[in-house]
Amino acid sequence: MDKKITIAIDGFSSTGKSTLAKQVAAHLGYAYVDSGAMYRAITLYAMENGFISPTHFDKQGLIKNLPDIKLDFRFNPDAGFAEMYINGQNAEKKIRTLEVSSLVSHVAEVSEVRAKLVEQQQHMGENKGVVMDGRDIGTVVFPNAELKLFMTASPETRAQRRYDELTQKGEAVTYEAVLKNVQDRDYIDSNREDSPLIQAVDAIVIDNSTLSRQEQFELVLGLATEAIQL
Ligand code: DC
Repeated sequence: MDKKITIAIDGFSSTGKSTLAKQVAAHLGYAYVDSGAMYRAITLYAMENGFISPTHFDKQGLIKNLPDIKLDFRFNPDAGFAEMYINGQNAEKKIRTLEVSSLVSHVAEVSEVRAKLVEQQQHMGENKGVVMDGRDIGTVVFPNAELKLFMTASPETRAQRRYDELTQKGEAVTYEAVLKNVQDRDYIDSNREDSPLIQAVDAIVIDNSTLSRQEQFELVLGLATEAIQL
């Protein structure tokens, strides 16, 4: 049987990381883990329990309650991917709103939140055969991953993609608000103290403003096949 590897995909928001990661995972028969969904889930919990709003953040309150938040992914065969559950409740839809997107970077800055989620992510990947996407996967979660990718694209390309996704789901948003969210998150994600978004030295950069989805998929599959054979 082929050797199993770990594939870490990092990069800015809405660079098509999850689409690519899902496709590669399905092709290789690997598990796909969307680590951003876990930060979104903690944010949703914090919103619903009054720890965070656009005007306040009770960080200590959230930290105290972290042990009570159980996150798990459950495969939905109809959707074809694993959905996020918070304390047994399906939260997949709720974690994707612009409201969650606009608060998640603040929650993701909290070291205690990161420590909890990194531990769970490392546990999910301990047997390899996993494709995980996020911001710190190749640098912090799996520094020894056999294949590391760093995905990028212009903020405008990414905002357009996110805007199309949200409007298709029926959310009333403007392109300008989505672009501002993308730019704000880039700034916070890249400048936070704990595990900022940086390119791992051994990551391969994929700029998807210039490559089609199919070209990206073929490129990554080629790299994965090489890494499996090493
Ligand atoms: O990939 P996404 O847009 O769903 O991620 C949501 C937020 O979570 C993003 O703004 C930064 C944070 N995040 C993180 O800090 N580390 C990760 N490994 C994944 C996401």
